[in-house]
Amino acid sequence: MLIPLILLFLVTLLLFIHATGKNNENYWKKRGVKFHNKNKVMGIFWDFLMKNRPMFQVVGDLYKQYREEPAVGFGGFFTPSLLINDATNIQHVFQTDFQAFNHRGIEINEGDHLADNILLMNGNRWKLVRQSMTPIFTSAKLKKMFYIMDKSGKDFVTYLKNNPERLKDNAFDTISTYCCAAIGAAVFGIVSESVFDSPFLDIARKAFKSTFKSDIKTTISSFSPWLSKKLNIKLFSEHQDFFIAAIKRIIRQREQENTKKYDFADMCVSLQKSGTLRDRETGLELEPTDELLSGQAFFFFTAGVEPSAASIFACLMELGKHPEHLKKVHDEIDATFEKLNGELTYESVMEMEYLEKVLCESIRLLPPIGFLGRQCVENTVLPVGNIKVEKGTKVFVAVYELHRDPKYYPNPEVFDPERFESESAQDSSVYMPFGKGNRLCVGMRFARLQVKTGLIYFLRNYTVKTKINGYPIRFRKEMIQVRPNNVDIEFIPRNIKN
Ligand code: HEM
Repeated sequence: MLIPLILLFLVTLLLFIHATGKNNENYWKKRGVKFHNKNKVMGIFWDFLMKNRPMFQVVGDLYKQYREEPAVGFGGFFTPSLLINDATNIQHVFQTDFQAFNHRGIEINEGDHLADNILLMNGNRWKLVRQSMTPIFTSAKLKKMFYIMDKSGKDFVTYLKNNPERLKDNAFDTISTYCCAAIGAAVFGIVSESVFDSPFLDIARKAFKSTFKSDIKTTISSFSPWLSKKLNIKLFSEHQDFFIAAIKRIIRQREQENTKKYDFADMCVSLQKSGTLRDRETGLELEPTDELLSGQAFFFFTAGVEPSAASIFACLMELGKHPEHLKKVHDEIDATFEKLNGELTYESVMEMEYLEKVLCESIRLLPPIGFLGRQCVENTVLPVGNIKVEKGTKVFVAVYELHRDPKYYPNPEVFDPERFESESAQDSSVYMPFGKGNRLCVGMRFARLQVKTGLIYFLRNYTVKTKINGYPIRFRKEMIQVRPNNVDIEFIPRNIKN
């Protein structure tokens, strides 16, 4: 009796899989869109879950295969899924038709406080919270905050001098320790010494790291809000109690103090003093509770560690391979220190033109986030190919591959900071290390300042040598990040007067 039942189950399952795949294929064919026939049900998610490859490469393979198509459909379980390849269509999704594509594409469950942050929020809540947090990142505020980053840079060099074993191996860890100190100080006002061995660094490293469990949770949250609700998936549950308790402690402590530090904790205190957040346009009201603010702090903190470290790593990796560019950056940094008698200022960092170009070009070649996604929230049409996109459709954009497409960047594999000679090069519709449009990285200016200040202190005191363990460069299996795993950087002390 059991065997026929199992057989019946298997046959039904196979028929169901076949019908779902056929349905996905017909869906796009009917709309005149090429469909990627491999794994018609799970599409690229199957490749990601089953193979030891990062998601950005899996998405990138699809881009390379269908580069000439304005968009290509693929299996996304029961959700129509589309990779957008054409630059005009990309601009349409991120900017022109934001009304239809303003959703990040992941649903979070109630009580998942740390996931309830600007990155993952949607709709009017997202708009209100983003509006309320944006003022912390204006140029005037960053200028006031600069002393925090400057101190983190100086302290970090002292730390490296006292711990020379950190100069030889695991450069990414060394760099992310600096980033953790800088963002920890900027978000929480924590002084750097405590951050070096703090549990915060551990959380930042683990939060977005790919594990089979975290990949499954993210995939379910992306593709089946129903199942995610049923299973009550919480994306960052393991860090929740510790993190919220820490933020509460910091806010309460700051309420007692009278000095202004211009960091995120100051902003939390002032938001709570001003009371309910209100959006006049939509009428939405939100209380700036400790939990809501903890969710924002959590994401600011994690974003300020791994992606910032990845940007510094990308710059140092390229400079360590190209001594002619490294010399130009060293000269620019040395001249600034000499002019200012060793004291860096916010303005002097902003004026370093060559460093700026090196950063832009390095994160073209190695964008810390290798692909982007949105969900369509109202029926619309993509202009190139006249592609009808229905509410609910997931759309993806292959950032890493677009940054290396010879159509947009001649000799794309060559490291050439002069590509960014003109400031407008950063406005190109396919250049998106920080994303694009209304959901552009809210911390971009902070991150650029943090990254450049770190680079300046590292390169004032050290020169770098890139060690690649066998070409081509290989990458760690990650859901969203781009992390080379056969590259390391050696820091070699320079002989300079400080
Ligand atoms: C170099 C470091 C960083 C890189 C490369 C980076 C990159 C990105 C990217 C690609 C996105 C998605 C944008 C899109 O979908 O169009 C994003 C979103 C975001 N980033 Fe960053 N980020 C960095 C650092 C930071 C920092 C330090 C903060 C905060 C202090 C931050 C806060 C955010 C927030 C809140 C969002 C969500 C924006 C929204 O959905 O409205 N990021 N970032």
